[in-house]
Amino acid sequence: MNEITFDFNNLLNFNIGPKHGVSLIDIGRLEPKIRKCHEHLQSVVKNPKSRFNLDLVWTQLPYQDEKVINRVEELAAEICANFENVISLGIGGSYLGLKAAQDALCAPYYNEFSTVRNNRPKIYFEGNNLDPVPLKVLLANLDPKKTFVIVISKSGETTETKAAFEAIQAWLQNSLGASFGRQILAITDPESGSLRKVVNLEQKKDNLSFRSLPLLKGIGGRYSEFNMGLLHLAIIGADIRNILEGAKAMALRCNRGDLYRNPAYLYAALHFILYKKKSKPISILMPFSENLKSTADWYAQLLAESLGKKYERKIIKNKDGSEQWLEDLKRQVNVGPTPVICRGTTDLHSIQQNNVEGENNKIITFVRIEEFGQDISIPGSDSFLSGRRLGELLDLAQEATQWSLTRAQRPNCTISLPCLDAFNWAGLLFFFQMATAFEGELLNVNAFNQPGVESYKNYLYYKLNKPGISADIQKQIKAGALIKRKKFII
Ligand code: PA5
Repeated sequence: MNEITFDFNNLLNFNIGPKHGVSLIDIGRLEPKIRKCHEHLQSVVKNPKSRFNLDLVWTQLPYQDEKVINRVEELAAEICANFENVISLGIGGSYLGLKAAQDALCAPYYNEFSTVRNNRPKIYFEGNNLDPVPLKVLLANLDPKKTFVIVISKSGETTETKAAFEAIQAWLQNSLGASFGRQILAITDPESGSLRKVVNLEQKKDNLSFRSLPLLKGIGGRYSEFNMGLLHLAIIGADIRNILEGAKAMALRCNRGDLYRNPAYLYAALHFILYKKKSKPISILMPFSENLKSTADWYAQLLAESLGKKYERKIIKNKDGSEQWLEDLKRQVNVGPTPVICRGTTDLHSIQQNNVEGENNKIITFVRIEEFGQDISIPGSDSFLSGRRLGELLDLAQEATQWSLTRAQRPNCTISLPCLDAFNWAGLLFFFQMATAFEGELLNVNAFNQPGVESYKNYLYYKLNKPGISADIQKQIKAGALIKRKKFII
Protein backbone atom coordinates (compact mmCIF):
# COMPACT_ATOMS: atom_id res chain seq x y z
CA MET A 1 0.00 0.00 0.00
CA ASN A 2 1.18 3.52 -0.75
CA GLU A 3 2.14 5.47 2.32
CA ILE A 4 2.48 9.12 3.29
CA THR A 5 5.74 10.54 1.96
CA PHE A 6 7.90 13.46 3.01
CA ASP A 7 9.87 15.09 0.18
CA PHE A 8 12.60 17.36 1.56
CA ASN A 9 14.62 17.96 -1.62
CA ASN A 10 13.82 21.67 -1.60
CA LEU A 11 15.13 22.16 1.91
CA LEU A 12 18.61 21.09 0.82
CA ASN A 13 21.50 23.22 -0.40
CA PHE A 14 21.79 21.60 -3.83
CA ASN A 15 18.35 23.03 -4.68
CA ILE A 16 18.21 26.32 -2.78
CA GLY A 17 21.86 27.17 -2.31
CA PRO A 18 24.19 27.06 0.70
CA LYS A 19 22.94 30.23 2.38
CA HIS A 20 19.36 29.03 2.85
CA GLY A 21 19.59 25.30 2.27
CA VAL A 22 20.60 22.52 4.65
CA SER A 23 23.62 20.41 3.72
CA LEU A 24 24.07 16.74 4.48
CA ILE A 25 27.01 17.88 6.62
CA ASP A 26 24.64 20.07 8.71
CA ILE A 27 22.43 17.02 9.24
CA GLY A 28 25.43 14.83 10.05
CA ARG A 29 26.58 17.32 12.69
CA LEU A 30 23.18 17.13 14.36
CA GLU A 31 23.07 13.33 14.38
CA PRO A 32 24.61 12.79 17.85
CA LYS A 33 22.02 15.19 19.32
CA ILE A 34 19.27 13.45 17.34
CA ARG A 35 20.34 10.08 18.76
CA LYS A 36 20.30 11.49 22.30
CA CYS A 37 16.89 13.08 21.80
CA HIS A 38 15.53 9.82 20.35
CA GLU A 39 16.80 7.82 23.33
CA HIS A 40 15.42 10.37 25.75
CA LEU A 41 11.99 10.55 24.12
CA GLN A 42 11.79 6.76 23.94
CA SER A 43 12.76 6.44 27.60
CA VAL A 44 10.06 8.81 28.84
CA VAL A 45 7.43 7.27 26.57
CA LYS A 46 8.31 3.79 27.82
CA ASN A 47 8.24 4.77 31.49
CA PRO A 48 4.53 4.70 32.54
CA LYS A 49 5.04 7.25 35.31
CA SER A 50 6.92 9.73 33.12
CA ARG A 51 4.42 9.20 30.32
CA PHE A 52 1.59 10.09 32.64
CA ASN A 53 3.24 12.97 34.52
CA LEU A 54 4.68 14.59 31.40
CA ASP A 55 1.47 14.35 29.32
CA LEU A 56 2.82 11.80 26.86
CA VAL A 57 -0.09 9.35 27.09
CA TRP A 58 -1.12 10.46 23.55
CA THR A 59 1.63 8.19 22.21
CA GLN A 60 -0.49 5.22 23.35
CA LEU A 61 -3.82 6.36 21.87
CA PRO A 62 -3.43 4.33 18.64
CA TYR A 63 -3.52 1.18 20.78
CA GLN A 64 -6.90 1.74 22.46
CA ASP A 65 -9.12 -0.98 23.78
CA GLU A 66 -11.97 -2.27 21.61
CA LYS A 67 -14.36 -1.70 24.56
CA VAL A 68 -13.76 2.06 24.39
CA ILE A 69 -14.55 2.09 20.67
CA ASN A 70 -17.71 0.00 21.13
CA ARG A 71 -19.04 2.30 23.85
CA VAL A 72 -18.37 5.38 21.73
CA GLU A 73 -20.05 3.82 18.70
CA GLU A 74 -23.14 2.89 20.75
CA LEU A 75 -23.50 6.46 21.98
CA ALA A 76 -22.98 7.84 18.49
CA ALA A 77 -25.61 5.50 17.02
CA GLU A 78 -28.10 6.63 19.65
CA ILE A 79 -27.41 10.32 18.96
CA CYS A 80 -27.62 9.84 15.18
CA ALA A 81 -30.91 7.97 15.48
CA ASN A 82 -32.60 10.60 17.61
CA PHE A 83 -31.27 14.04 16.70
CA GLU A 84 -31.02 16.24 13.65
CA ASN A 85 -28.38 18.54 15.11
CA VAL A 86 -25.38 18.28 17.37
CA ILE A 87 -23.82 21.32 19.01
CA SER A 88 -20.22 20.64 19.96
CA LEU A 89 -18.83 23.03 22.57
CA GLY A 90 -15.11 23.41 23.19
CA ILE A 91 -12.08 25.52 22.40
CA GLY A 92 -8.38 25.04 21.56
CA GLY A 93 -7.43 21.40 22.03
CA SER A 94 -11.07 20.61 22.78
CA TYR A 95 -12.19 21.91 19.40
CA LEU A 96 -9.55 22.15 16.67
CA GLY A 97 -9.06 18.39 16.23
CA LEU A 98 -12.82 17.92 15.77
CA LYS A 99 -13.07 20.68 13.19
CA ALA A 100 -10.03 19.28 11.40
CA ALA A 101 -11.62 15.81 11.31
CA GLN A 102 -14.96 17.14 10.16
CA ASP A 103 -13.48 19.07 7.25
CA ALA A 104 -10.97 16.36 6.27
CA LEU A 105 -13.21 13.32 6.48
CA CYS A 106 -16.63 14.65 5.52
CA ALA A 107 -17.46 15.88 2.07
CA PRO A 108 -17.69 19.67 1.71
CA TYR A 109 -21.12 21.19 2.45
CA TYR A 110 -21.80 18.47 5.04
CA ASN A 111 -24.31 20.59 6.95
CA GLU A 112 -26.00 21.91 3.84
CA PHE A 113 -27.06 18.66 2.15
CA SER A 114 -28.57 15.60 3.85
CA THR A 115 -27.42 13.39 0.94
CA VAL A 116 -23.82 14.48 1.58
CA ARG A 117 -24.03 13.56 5.25
CA ASN A 118 -26.04 10.36 4.77
CA ASN A 119 -28.78 11.74 7.00
CA ARG A 120 -26.43 12.06 9.95
CA PRO A 121 -26.88 15.05 12.30
CA LYS A 122 -25.64 18.47 11.28
CA ILE A 123 -22.72 19.54 13.46
CA TYR A 124 -22.36 23.08 14.83
CA PHE A 125 -19.20 24.11 16.65
CA GLU A 126 -19.68 26.68 19.38
CA GLY A 127 -18.02 27.72 22.64
CA ASN A 128 -14.81 28.45 20.71
CA ASN A 129 -15.19 32.24 20.89
CA LEU A 130 -16.86 34.79 23.15
CA ASP A 131 -18.43 36.51 20.14
CA PRO A 132 -22.15 36.53 21.01
CA VAL A 133 -23.50 36.72 17.46
CA PRO A 134 -23.01 33.17 16.08
CA LEU A 135 -24.44 31.51 19.18
CA LYS A 136 -27.39 33.91 19.31
CA VAL A 137 -28.23 33.19 15.66
CA LEU A 138 -27.80 29.46 16.08
CA LEU A 139 -30.05 29.20 19.13
CA ALA A 140 -32.68 31.36 17.47
CA ASN A 141 -32.84 28.93 14.55
CA LEU A 142 -32.31 25.42 15.92
CA ASP A 143 -35.07 23.37 17.48
CA PRO A 144 -33.91 22.35 20.99
CA LYS A 145 -36.02 19.17 20.84
CA LYS A 146 -33.97 17.99 17.84
CA THR A 147 -30.59 19.05 19.17
CA PHE A 148 -28.01 17.12 21.18
CA VAL A 149 -25.22 18.97 22.99
CA ILE A 150 -21.69 17.68 23.54
CA VAL A 151 -19.60 19.83 25.85
CA ILE A 152 -15.85 19.20 25.83
CA SER A 153 -13.50 20.71 28.37
CA LYS A 154 -10.65 18.95 30.11
CA SER A 155 -10.44 21.48 32.93
CA GLY A 156 -14.18 22.09 32.95
CA GLU A 157 -13.38 25.73 33.69
CA THR A 158 -12.62 27.39 30.34
CA THR A 159 -14.58 30.65 30.05
CA GLU A 160 -15.58 30.40 26.37
CA THR A 161 -16.94 26.86 26.69
CA LYS A 162 -18.50 27.42 30.09
CA ALA A 163 -20.31 30.61 29.04
CA ALA A 164 -21.76 28.98 25.91
CA PHE A 165 -22.72 25.88 27.88
CA GLU A 166 -24.60 27.94 30.50
CA ALA A 167 -26.53 29.70 27.76
CA ILE A 168 -27.33 26.44 25.99
CA GLN A 169 -28.47 24.71 29.16
CA ALA A 170 -31.00 27.50 29.76
CA TRP A 171 -32.11 27.23 26.11
CA LEU A 172 -32.64 23.47 26.41
CA GLN A 173 -34.33 23.73 29.80
CA ASN A 174 -36.80 26.38 28.59
CA SER A 175 -38.02 24.02 25.94
CA LEU A 176 -37.59 20.57 27.50
CA GLY A 177 -38.11 21.19 31.22
CA ALA A 178 -36.49 19.02 33.87
CA SER A 179 -35.31 16.30 31.46
CA PHE A 180 -33.07 18.68 29.45
CA GLY A 181 -29.91 16.98 30.77
CA ARG A 182 -30.73 13.88 28.70
CA GLN A 183 -29.65 15.84 25.65
CA ILE A 184 -26.25 16.66 27.09
CA LEU A 185 -23.05 14.66 27.12
CA ALA A 186 -19.84 15.95 28.69
CA ILE A 187 -16.30 14.96 27.74
CA THR A 188 -14.11 16.08 30.60
CA ASP A 189 -11.53 15.07 33.18
CA PRO A 190 -12.63 11.82 34.86
CA GLU A 191 -12.22 13.30 38.35
CA SER A 192 -11.65 17.02 38.64
CA GLY A 193 -13.12 20.35 37.50
CA SER A 194 -16.49 22.04 37.85
CA LEU A 195 -17.94 20.32 34.75
CA ARG A 196 -17.15 16.93 36.27
CA LYS A 197 -18.86 18.07 39.50
CA VAL A 198 -22.02 18.99 37.60
CA VAL A 199 -21.94 15.64 35.74
CA ASN A 200 -21.64 13.71 39.00
CA LEU A 201 -24.46 15.68 40.59
CA GLU A 202 -26.86 15.31 37.65
CA GLN A 203 -26.01 11.62 37.21
CA LYS A 204 -27.06 10.96 40.80
CA LYS A 205 -30.50 12.42 40.07
CA ASP A 206 -30.95 10.66 36.72
CA ASN A 207 -28.38 8.38 35.12
CA LEU A 208 -29.51 9.30 31.59
CA SER A 209 -28.78 12.95 32.27
CA PHE A 210 -25.37 14.52 31.62
CA ARG A 211 -23.74 11.30 30.53
CA SER A 212 -20.02 11.55 30.05
CA LEU A 213 -16.86 10.20 28.50
CA PRO A 214 -13.44 10.71 30.08
CA LEU A 215 -10.80 13.01 28.69
CA LEU A 216 -7.87 10.88 29.71
CA LYS A 217 -5.34 12.15 32.19
CA GLY A 218 -1.80 12.61 30.95
CA ILE A 219 -2.78 14.12 27.58
CA GLY A 220 -2.85 17.82 26.67
CA GLY A 221 -5.74 19.11 24.57
CA ARG A 222 -3.82 19.53 21.31
CA TYR A 223 -2.62 15.92 21.40
CA SER A 224 -6.04 14.51 22.30
CA GLU A 225 -7.95 14.11 19.01
CA PHE A 226 -7.80 10.29 19.18
CA ASN A 227 -9.38 10.43 22.67
CA MET A 228 -11.49 13.61 22.90
CA GLY A 229 -12.58 13.37 19.25
CA LEU A 230 -13.77 9.75 19.10
CA LEU A 231 -17.48 10.42 19.70
CA HIS A 232 -17.55 13.17 17.08
CA LEU A 233 -15.73 10.88 14.62
CA ALA A 234 -18.32 8.15 15.16
CA ILE A 235 -21.19 10.64 14.73
CA ILE A 236 -19.88 11.86 11.38
CA GLY A 237 -19.48 8.24 10.28
CA ALA A 238 -15.69 8.00 10.29
CA ASP A 239 -14.25 4.53 10.85
CA ILE A 240 -12.53 4.81 14.24
CA ARG A 241 -10.68 1.52 13.84
CA ASN A 242 -9.23 2.73 10.57
CA ILE A 243 -8.25 6.02 12.21
CA LEU A 244 -6.37 4.19 14.94
CA GLU A 245 -4.75 1.88 12.37
CA GLY A 246 -3.52 4.93 10.44
CA ALA A 247 -2.08 6.49 13.61
CA LYS A 248 -0.48 3.15 14.52
CA ALA A 249 1.16 2.75 11.11
CA MET A 250 2.63 6.24 11.42
CA ALA A 251 3.69 5.61 15.04
CA LEU A 252 5.73 2.63 13.82
CA ARG A 253 7.54 4.81 11.29
CA CYS A 254 8.04 7.63 13.80
CA ASN A 255 9.57 5.45 16.50
CA ARG A 256 12.57 4.46 14.38
CA GLY A 257 15.96 5.62 15.59
CA ASP A 258 17.31 5.81 12.03
CA LEU A 259 16.82 9.44 11.02
CA TYR A 260 16.50 8.72 7.31
CA ARG A 261 13.72 6.20 7.94
CA ASN A 262 11.79 8.36 10.39
CA PRO A 263 9.80 11.12 8.63
CA ALA A 264 8.86 12.95 11.85
CA TYR A 265 12.45 13.15 13.08
CA LEU A 266 13.67 14.28 9.68
CA TYR A 267 10.97 16.95 9.46
CA ALA A 268 11.82 18.15 12.99
CA ALA A 269 15.59 18.05 12.44
CA LEU A 270 15.43 20.01 9.18
CA HIS A 271 13.07 22.59 10.66
CA PHE A 272 15.36 22.86 13.69
CA ILE A 273 18.46 23.47 11.53
CA LEU A 274 16.62 25.99 9.36
CA TYR A 275 15.25 27.77 12.43
CA LYS A 276 18.48 27.87 14.41
CA LYS A 277 21.17 28.12 11.70
CA LYS A 278 19.44 29.63 8.68
CA SER A 279 17.23 32.25 10.38
CA LYS A 280 13.86 30.79 9.41
CA PRO A 281 11.55 31.54 12.36
CA ILE A 282 8.29 31.27 10.38
CA SER A 283 6.73 27.94 9.58
CA ILE A 284 4.04 28.02 6.92
CA LEU A 285 1.70 25.10 6.39
CA MET A 286 0.06 25.18 3.00
CA PRO A 287 -2.32 22.35 2.19
CA PHE A 288 -3.39 22.02 -1.43
CA SER A 289 -6.80 20.79 -0.39
CA GLU A 290 -9.80 22.70 0.95
CA ASN A 291 -10.53 19.70 3.17
CA LEU A 292 -7.23 20.14 4.99
CA LYS A 293 -7.59 23.84 5.83
CA SER A 294 -8.82 23.09 9.37
CA THR A 295 -6.06 20.53 9.82
CA ALA A 296 -3.67 23.44 9.22
CA ASP A 297 -5.51 25.39 11.95
CA TRP A 298 -5.05 22.42 14.27
CA TYR A 299 -1.34 22.28 13.40
CA ALA A 300 -0.92 25.99 14.13
CA GLN A 301 -2.07 25.38 17.70
CA LEU A 302 0.11 22.30 18.01
CA LEU A 303 3.22 24.18 16.93
CA ALA A 304 2.54 27.43 18.76
CA GLU A 305 1.59 25.96 22.13
CA SER A 306 4.16 23.17 22.05
CA LEU A 307 7.28 25.02 20.96
CA GLY A 308 6.67 28.69 21.77
CA LYS A 309 8.34 28.79 25.18
CA LYS A 310 10.00 31.33 27.44
CA TYR A 311 12.28 28.94 29.32
CA GLU A 312 14.29 25.88 28.49
CA ARG A 313 13.37 22.66 30.19
CA LYS A 314 15.09 21.42 33.32
CA ILE A 315 14.92 17.63 33.60
CA ILE A 316 14.70 16.20 37.12
CA LYS A 317 15.34 12.48 37.45
CA ASN A 318 13.29 10.88 40.21
CA LYS A 319 14.67 8.03 42.29
CA ASP A 320 12.30 5.55 40.60
CA GLY A 321 13.73 6.41 37.15
CA SER A 322 10.82 8.59 36.05
CA GLU A 323 11.25 12.25 35.13
CA GLN A 324 9.80 15.59 36.00
CA TRP A 325 10.27 18.61 33.77
CA LEU A 326 10.50 22.11 35.19
CA GLU A 327 11.09 25.50 33.61
CA ASP A 328 14.77 26.36 33.89
CA LEU A 329 14.42 29.90 35.17
CA LYS A 330 18.11 30.51 34.55
CA ARG A 331 17.69 29.81 30.85
CA GLN A 332 15.20 32.23 29.35
CA VAL A 333 15.21 31.47 25.60
CA ASN A 334 11.90 32.71 24.14
CA VAL A 335 11.97 30.19 21.31
CA GLY A 336 9.51 28.67 18.91
CA PRO A 337 8.70 29.01 15.21
CA THR A 338 5.69 31.15 14.34
CA PRO A 339 3.01 29.16 12.53
CA VAL A 340 1.29 30.65 9.51
CA ILE A 341 -1.47 29.01 7.49
CA CYS A 342 -1.76 29.39 3.72
CA ARG A 343 -4.17 27.70 1.32
CA GLY A 344 -3.21 26.36 -2.03
CA THR A 345 -4.26 27.62 -4.49
CA THR A 346 -6.28 30.47 -2.87
CA ASP A 347 -3.33 32.16 -1.17
CA LEU A 348 -1.12 31.93 -4.25
CA HIS A 349 -2.98 35.10 -5.13
CA SER A 350 -2.19 36.85 -1.85
CA ILE A 351 0.38 35.60 0.70
CA GLN A 352 2.52 33.90 -1.94
CA GLN A 353 3.93 37.26 -3.06
CA ASN A 354 5.54 37.64 0.34
CA ASN A 355 6.62 33.99 0.41
CA VAL A 356 8.54 34.42 -2.84
CA GLU A 357 9.86 37.97 -2.56
CA GLY A 358 9.49 39.07 1.07
CA GLU A 359 12.00 38.29 3.80
CA ASN A 360 13.60 34.90 3.32
CA ASN A 361 12.66 33.84 6.85
CA LYS A 362 10.12 31.08 6.25
CA ILE A 363 9.86 27.36 5.68
CA ILE A 364 6.87 26.31 3.62
CA THR A 365 5.39 22.86 4.06
CA PHE A 366 2.90 21.73 1.45
CA VAL A 367 0.43 18.96 2.01
CA ARG A 368 -0.89 17.44 -1.18
CA ILE A 369 -3.26 14.60 -1.99
CA GLU A 370 -2.35 12.21 -4.78
CA GLU A 371 -5.76 10.81 -5.58
CA PHE A 372 -8.91 12.88 -4.96
CA GLY A 373 -11.38 10.10 -5.70
CA GLN A 374 -13.62 12.54 -7.59
CA ASP A 375 -12.79 15.18 -10.13
CA ILE A 376 -14.17 17.56 -12.73
CA SER A 377 -12.96 17.67 -16.33
CA ILE A 378 -13.04 21.00 -18.08
CA PRO A 379 -15.30 20.74 -21.10
CA GLY A 380 -14.67 21.96 -24.63
CA SER A 381 -11.65 21.77 -26.87
CA ASP A 382 -10.71 25.34 -27.69
CA SER A 383 -8.81 26.45 -24.59
CA PHE A 384 -5.54 25.38 -22.99
CA LEU A 385 -7.64 24.16 -20.05
CA SER A 386 -9.99 22.02 -22.15
CA GLY A 387 -9.90 18.38 -21.22
CA ARG A 388 -7.83 19.01 -18.10
CA ARG A 389 -9.04 17.81 -14.68
CA LEU A 390 -9.23 20.25 -11.74
CA GLY A 391 -7.25 17.77 -9.61
CA GLU A 392 -4.55 17.72 -12.27
CA LEU A 393 -4.44 21.54 -12.31
CA LEU A 394 -4.23 21.66 -8.53
CA ASP A 395 -1.28 19.30 -8.53
CA LEU A 396 0.39 21.25 -11.28
CA ALA A 397 -0.12 24.48 -9.33
CA GLN A 398 1.56 22.88 -6.33
CA GLU A 399 4.51 21.86 -8.51
CA ALA A 400 4.64 25.40 -9.92
CA THR A 401 4.64 26.84 -6.38
CA GLN A 402 7.52 24.54 -5.42
CA TRP A 403 9.37 25.70 -8.51
CA SER A 404 8.89 29.41 -7.92
CA LEU A 405 9.92 29.14 -4.27
CA THR A 406 12.92 26.96 -5.01
CA ARG A 407 14.05 29.30 -7.75
CA ALA A 408 13.93 32.14 -5.21
CA GLN A 409 15.94 29.97 -2.75
CA ARG A 410 13.01 29.60 -0.35
CA PRO A 411 13.03 26.37 1.70
CA ASN A 412 9.97 24.25 1.03
CA CYS A 413 8.98 20.63 1.49
CA THR A 414 6.04 18.44 0.54
CA ILE A 415 4.04 15.88 2.45
CA SER A 416 1.97 13.69 0.10
CA LEU A 417 -1.03 11.63 1.14
CA PRO A 418 -2.00 8.78 -1.23
CA CYS A 419 -5.62 9.86 -0.66
CA LEU A 420 -7.54 11.74 2.01
CA ASP A 421 -9.18 9.00 4.05
CA ALA A 422 -9.44 8.22 7.75
CA PHE A 423 -6.26 6.12 7.72
CA ASN A 424 -4.05 8.73 6.06
CA TRP A 425 -5.53 11.70 7.89
CA ALA A 426 -4.82 10.03 11.23
CA GLY A 427 -1.31 9.24 10.01
CA LEU A 428 -0.80 12.90 9.13
CA LEU A 429 -1.90 14.03 12.60
CA PHE A 430 0.33 11.50 14.33
CA PHE A 431 3.24 12.53 12.11
CA PHE A 432 2.83 16.20 13.09
CA GLN A 433 2.45 15.32 16.77
CA MET A 434 5.62 13.25 16.77
CA ALA A 435 7.55 15.83 14.73
CA THR A 436 6.53 18.55 17.18
CA ALA A 437 7.40 16.44 20.21
CA PHE A 438 10.81 15.74 18.66
CA GLU A 439 11.44 19.37 17.81
CA GLY A 440 10.64 20.11 21.46
CA GLU A 441 13.41 17.67 22.40
CA LEU A 442 15.84 19.36 20.02
CA LEU A 443 14.95 22.78 21.40
CA ASN A 444 14.98 21.40 24.95
CA VAL A 445 11.57 22.82 25.85
CA ASN A 446 8.52 21.17 27.36
CA ALA A 447 6.32 20.56 24.32
CA PHE A 448 3.36 19.44 26.42
CA ASN A 449 2.45 22.43 28.57
CA GLN A 450 1.16 25.91 27.73
CA PRO A 451 1.99 28.29 30.60
CA GLY A 452 1.65 31.31 28.31
CA VAL A 453 -2.03 30.59 27.69
CA GLU A 454 -2.73 30.73 31.42
CA SER A 455 -1.80 34.38 31.87
CA TYR A 456 -4.72 35.83 29.90
CA LYS A 457 -7.05 33.39 31.64
CA ASN A 458 -5.82 34.59 35.04
CA TYR A 459 -6.45 38.23 34.15
CA LEU A 460 -9.94 37.41 32.88
CA TYR A 461 -10.76 35.38 35.99
CA TYR A 462 -9.45 38.19 38.21
CA LYS A 463 -11.66 40.74 36.46
CA LEU A 464 -14.64 38.39 36.74
CA ASN A 465 -13.98 37.81 40.46
CA LYS A 466 -13.68 34.08 39.93
CA PRO A 467 -13.05 32.46 43.31
CA GLY A 468 -9.72 30.72 43.91
CA ILE A 469 -7.24 33.10 42.23
CA SER A 470 -3.99 32.90 44.15
CA ALA A 471 -2.77 35.93 46.10
CA ASP A 472 0.41 35.91 44.03
CA ILE A 473 -1.48 36.23 40.74
CA GLN A 474 -3.72 38.95 42.18
CA LYS A 475 -0.61 40.85 43.24
CA GLN A 476 0.96 40.49 39.78
CA ILE A 477 -2.18 41.83 38.07
CA LYS A 478 -2.51 44.79 40.46
CA ALA A 479 1.18 45.67 40.07
CA GLY A 480 1.18 45.40 36.29
CA ALA A 481 -2.05 47.18 35.34
CA LEU A 482 -2.36 48.28 31.70
CA ILE A 483 -1.35 51.90 31.17
CA LYS A 484 -3.76 53.70 28.84
CA ARG A 485 -2.87 57.36 28.22
CA LYS A 486 -5.61 59.28 26.44
CA LYS A 487 -3.16 61.14 24.21
CA PHE A 488 -2.11 57.85 22.68
CA ILE A 489 -5.64 57.01 21.61
CA ILE A 490 -6.77 59.13 18.69
O1 PA5 B 1 -4.07 22.45 24.23
C1 PA5 B 1 -4.57 22.86 25.26
O2 PA5 B 1 -4.34 22.31 26.34
C2 PA5 B 1 -5.52 24.05 25.26
O3 PA5 B 1 -5.74 24.53 23.98
C3 PA5 B 1 -6.86 23.63 25.84
O4 PA5 B 1 -7.34 22.53 25.13
C4 PA5 B 1 -7.90 24.76 25.79
O5 PA5 B 1 -7.44 25.86 26.52
C5 PA5 B 1 -9.24 24.29 26.31
O6 PA5 B 1 -9.09 23.80 27.59
P1 PA5 B 1 -10.16 22.86 28.25
O7 PA5 B 1 -10.23 21.61 27.47
O8 PA5 B 1 -9.67 22.64 29.63
O9 PA5 B 1 -11.48 23.61 28.24
